[in-house]
Amino acid sequence: MLKFLGYFVVTVAVLGFGFAYYHNHKVSKMNEIEMSRYDTPEKYKNHLKGKTLVIYYSLSKHTQKIAEKIQELTGADIYEIETEEPIKHNLMAYWKIRQQLKKKNYPKLKEKAPDLSKYTTIIIGGPVWWYTVATPMISFLNEADFKGKKVAVFSTQSSNYGRYFEDFKSFAKHADIKTTISFNNTPEKYSQAEENKLINWLNKI
Ligand SMILES: Cc1cc2nc3c(=O)[nH]c(=O)nc-3n(C[C@H](O)[C@H](O)[C@H](O)COP(=O)(O)O)c2cc1C
Repeated sequence: MLKFLGYFVVTVAVLGFGFAYYHNHKVSKMNEIEMSRYDTPEKYKNHLKGKTLVIYYSLSKHTQKIAEKIQELTGADIYEIETEEPIKHNLMAYWKIRQQLKKKNYPKLKEKAPDLSKYTTIIIGGPVWWYTVATPMISFLNEADFKGKKVAVFSTQSSNYGRYFEDFKSFAKHADIKTTISFNNTPEKYSQAEENKLINWLNKI
């Protein structure tokens, strides 16, 4: 019996590592192909200054990096969505967040949504959690009203954004979403290509 259990555990472990290896290999190939499309340097049109707000939520700083890059390029104002209780980024969080999504029990935010009246354009982004919008972003969207604003939405994710953009649209009240884009977390060697991709997108807003 113990011998059988041993074989079982080893088989599961080998299959698990095999799958993880195959998945990572596939994602890194996908990233390589995508990023090769952004080899050419892009010039930002400088058209968003003074009337744009970048709004983001970020747990582990990937989205923050993109949001800050947008701020740096455009000179826009920036607003970080924060939860009242900080969310710890650990294994348990995956289960807790799954439950929040299942029960539609979204976290309380630290403060009310900011006044959007002086902005014409809102660029808003956050991480993909369980193939959809991160729960603090859902809390924010439940409060905010984008009436009369031009909205551009971005996501960051490991590899699969799932229903993020459809779900985002259904949560964002009155948002006239002009354009969307997603960013996989890629290695440092793609940082220039990522910036080219970002500028290319900003120029479309
Ligand atoms: C709870 C949880 C669920 C996640 N679900 C997905 C997912 O469905 N698809 C995906 O590609 N990445 C997923 N990720 C990875 C994040 O989307 C990715 O690392 C993102 O860039 C994190 O952004 P942040 O650093 O701004 O928080 C998940 C991460 C967490 C913490």
